[in-house]
Amino acid sequence: MALRVGLLGAGFIAGVHVDAYKKLQGATVTAVADVNTEAASALAGKCGGVKVYSNPDDLIEDDSIDVVDVCLPTFLHEKYVVAAARSGKHVLCEKPIALSVEQADRMVEATGKAGVMFMVAHVVRFWPEYLVAKQVIDSGELGRPVEVSAARLSTTPVWSADNWILKPELSGGAALDLHIHDLDYVNWILGKPRSVFARGLRSERGALDHIVTMISYEAGGTANVEGGWMMPEDFPFTTMLRVVCEKGCIDFQARAGVNIEAREAAKPALAVHKRGEKVRYPDVPSRDAYLAEIEYFIKCIETNTLPSMVTPQDAVTALKVALAARASVEAGTVVDVG
Ligand SMILES: NC(=O)c1ccc[n+]([C@@H]2O[C@H](COP(=O)([O-])OP(=O)(O)OC[C@H]3O[C@@H](n4cnc5c(N)ncnc54)[C@H](O)[C@@H]3O)[C@@H](O)[C@H]2O)c1
Repeated sequence: MALRVGLLGAGFIAGVHVDAYKKLQGATVTAVADVNTEAASALAGKCGGVKVYSNPDDLIEDDSIDVVDVCLPTFLHEKYVVAAARSGKHVLCEKPIALSVEQADRMVEATGKAGVMFMVAHVVRFWPEYLVAKQVIDSGELGRPVEVSAARLSTTPVWSADNWILKPELSGGAALDLHIHDLDYVNWILGKPRSVFARGLRSERGALDHIVTMISYEAGGTANVEGGWMMPEDFPFTTMLRVVCEKGCIDFQARAGVNIEAREAAKPALAVHKRGEKVRYPDVPSRDAYLAEIEYFIKCIETNTLPSMVTPQDAVTALKVALAARASVEAGTVVDVG
């Protein structure tokens, strides 16, 4: 029988998750909870008229639910991940894991203690081009990766409920919300981060909304990551990845519409440049990354296998780098990741 999923939140990313669940055999959304019951009812309608709750706690207590998918604003992640774990539900939680390491540690502890599956939705690890780039690096054909540059630039997000995303005390600002996608990915490529030096710009709201972070890794590599949501209204949603290795380089850029919802309009090409050979463009499966991510988590539950594509510790480390980057901008110095 398909796993029964309860969605917490009926906003932007919950809608993206619903589109994915509708394509999956192994899981089906059977309830949606949101304080905005109109939004919850509309999304529940898209799922075939499933149950609607106005309070996430009531969904969590629903014995018919197997998996809780937390698509709530970041400041609520800890509360509901911990509650869902205590009630014995498997938990998928949107990134970033939380706003502080203390919160994140409590989430990891609660899910571990409950013995439930827990994954933070770091979708870039499932993004076809980023996944193929990782596979090329892991094949060893280009030698060791030594420098990774990545960027993620967007216009200011305007869709969030009560504008929570633009309140740094609720979202962590661009460093934790947007920049963290690439901070996590570069960790995946280069290993354990040691220290960070970052510079940033503040928006007119006073929030640190554009940030450039240089990371030094224990294994010797470096990363240079730029992220921000202060781009002018007509600037296309842009992502960039370049991995310089001992024997070559991987290069990728994508530009789409004005925000991530237009991701399918991008026609990106992943190029592999190997010294002494002609550039090649590896086959990249055209697969929605959100579908791949959710399908992977559902498979982990079905096969009783701990998620290894993104471990809870990976999510905590990405958060530590993002917090160190913010601290580095404030202090003007190099900050240890810890
Ligand atoms: N992976 C990605 O690409 C991606 C993209 C966007 C957002 N996100 C993450 O997803 C999470 C949600 O972001 P979003 O863009 O969907 O936000 P959103 O504002 O569009 O949706 C949040 C929903 O939560 C509801 N809500 C707020 N407080 C609540 C409460 N106390 N109880 C019940 N419902 C409540 C709101 O009514 C709203 O419908 C965030 O952590 C964000 O960082 C990830």
